[in-house]
Amino acid sequence: MKQMLNVALPKGRLGEKVYDMFEKAGYPCPSIKEVNRKLIFENENCSVRYFWVKPSDVAIYVERGAADIGVAGKDILLEYEPDIYELLDLNIGKCNMAVAAKKDFRDDNSKTLRVATKFSNIAAGYYLSKGRDIDIIHLNGSIEIAPILGLSDVIVDIVETGTTLKENDLKVIKIIAPISARFIANKASYKFKFNEIEALVKNLAQQTTED
Ligand code: PRP
Repeated sequence: MKQMLNVALPKGRLGEKVYDMFEKAGYPCPSIKEVNRKLIFENENCSVRYFWVKPSDVAIYVERGAADIGVAGKDILLEYEPDIYELLDLNIGKCNMAVAAKKDFRDDNSKTLRVATKFSNIAAGYYLSKGRDIDIIHLNGSIEIAPILGLSDVIVDIVETGTTLKENDLKVIKIIAPISARFIANKASYKFKFNEIEALVKNLAQQTTED
């Protein structure tokens, strides 16, 4: 009898893609495709239980053991540095963590740079490594508005297609890090459910190199 795997999936389009990969890897749970607002789905026959959680919360569930495994964006792992194992790059949900600013922006090194971001730790780490003095303005969304309204000089944010920047007359100044979805595991679960988790990682790794 396989041990039950508790899986935290990021709610949304990326999570649906991830579920399809898990299904192919031998962990189907057809009830998850039903259109309703349930958040927990179980398939006892395959010993799997899925939870839909907010993408930025996946690592919290996994770190604290409420989920054995999950899929989280590298942006969240860099920002919060949760105490988990990062086992595989799934090569999906690809984007960049970047610095962006208004098209006419010129950096004035004699002044403190005002940086608006949801990713305060990533931004602080990046500018610390450059020796640049900054003032972080932590926002929770719609970051692109900050330089337009003069709230900040630059932003540090996720850029996927670049459409949001373009439509708000902003441009990428520097790419800080490439981002993609990562398969993560709780440290104790990895020990006690080693066979199940390793078999799953192997299968998923194969799927990521197939296309
Ligand atoms: C993210 C990010 C950018 C946008 C980038 O926002 O913060 O605003 O996507 O995507 P693009 O390059 O394809 O335009 P999200 O939709 O998560 O909303 P929020 O940050 O405003 O909450």
